[in-house]
Amino acid sequence: MRQFKETLRQLRAQGLYRSLLQTDSATSTSVKQDGQKALLFCANNYLGLANHPVLKKAAAEAAETWGAGAGAARLVSGNHYLYKTLESKLAQYKHTAAALIFSTGYMANLGTIPAIVQKGDLILADRLNHASLVDGCRLSGASFRIYRHRDTVHLEKLLQKRKSGQNVLIVSDGVFSMDGDIAPLPEIVRLAENYDARIYLDDAHATGVLGQNGGGTAEHFGLSNPRLIQMGTFSKALGGFGGFVAGTEDLIQLLINKARPFVYTTALPPGVLASALAALELVQSRPHLMAQLWENQAYFHQKISELGFNLLGSETPIVPILIGSSEKALTFSKHLLEKGILVSAIRPPTVPKGSARLRVTLMAVHTQAQIDLLLHALKDIGKKLRII
Ligand SMILES: Cc1ncc(COP(=O)(O)O)c(C=O)c1O
Repeated sequence: MRQFKETLRQLRAQGLYRSLLQTDSATSTSVKQDGQKALLFCANNYLGLANHPVLKKAAAEAAETWGAGAGAARLVSGNHYLYKTLESKLAQYKHTAAALIFSTGYMANLGTIPAIVQKGDLILADRLNHASLVDGCRLSGASFRIYRHRDTVHLEKLLQKRKSGQNVLIVSDGVFSMDGDIAPLPEIVRLAENYDARIYLDDAHATGVLGQNGGGTAEHFGLSNPRLIQMGTFSKALGGFGGFVAGTEDLIQLLINKARPFVYTTALPPGVLASALAALELVQSRPHLMAQLWENQAYFHQKISELGFNLLGSETPIVPILIGSSEKALTFSKHLLEKGILVSAIRPPTVPKGSARLRVTLMAVHTQAQIDLLLHALKDIGKKLRII
């Protein structure tokens, strides 16, 4: 029998050991972790909605009226009326016929991909897709080929090699979660049309961030296509919890019947649904939130580019700073924390070997003074560790 201690020892030796810190505050531009207050530059709460009074009030009122939990799966008695309202608003938001809420974004990916492709089918996936997409693809039993990151020439070569009549699904992040760059969706759609494939797009980091209304990658490129299945989350820019899939009416009916992480889990609590509804309304009625996020992104991007770090082609409020070794990335993060700034080190297997990094994320609610503090600290430590 393999000893757990030995596996843990190996993880430590490789600089890959992970441990939990305790957060003792609400998620805002600063947090208290293990008793220490720090400026927060690594949350996915892009619009600062996680602690927004409108969302909190909506959640509290719904809990007061309808209770803390749903008590059963949606197909049993947990299908609260808020689901219907929220799903129809999501479909409008994503410019699709219908939408379906899952308990998390992870479960949306784990449930949808195996429901739409099976053994004998072919999945073509970007090399830097999120782990939950990888898990969904593996679970499906379909053949699974990887194309080079954002490389549509490579994608086309793989499409040309598919067996005649084979059902093909192209799977990609919209905004890549660890690199902050954007999938070349117009070209992917063109290829899907030419080769009769479907696309599954994970817009976890694009929802509420990209496109005029925050509708995501498709809205950003002005695209709408029945081959495109869009997944999103409430857990990032929308400040809450839960995931969803938007697409055709038939797709949604199929998922209700076949997606196991949808069927076999308890429905979300009413408070979670109510706060998601409030967030969706807020993001569309207060465009200054997204405008401020992008203003912060532009400011930080310009200043950090001048420092000479490798930013891996980031185009969004996710800004990776490539370090390379896991140990060095951890040391950088530790030095930042000593200066009162929290930016976590991202290491394999979350990112490919040798590409450990700091992953800075900007929020609409960061002030320029806070961003300047981060820039100064990055410059000081970057020089000390000989990264710049
Ligand atoms: C690209 C991507 N997809 C899916 C997920 C999972 O979403 P959730 O946190 O709502 O489960 C995440 C979050 O970690 C993500 O970054």
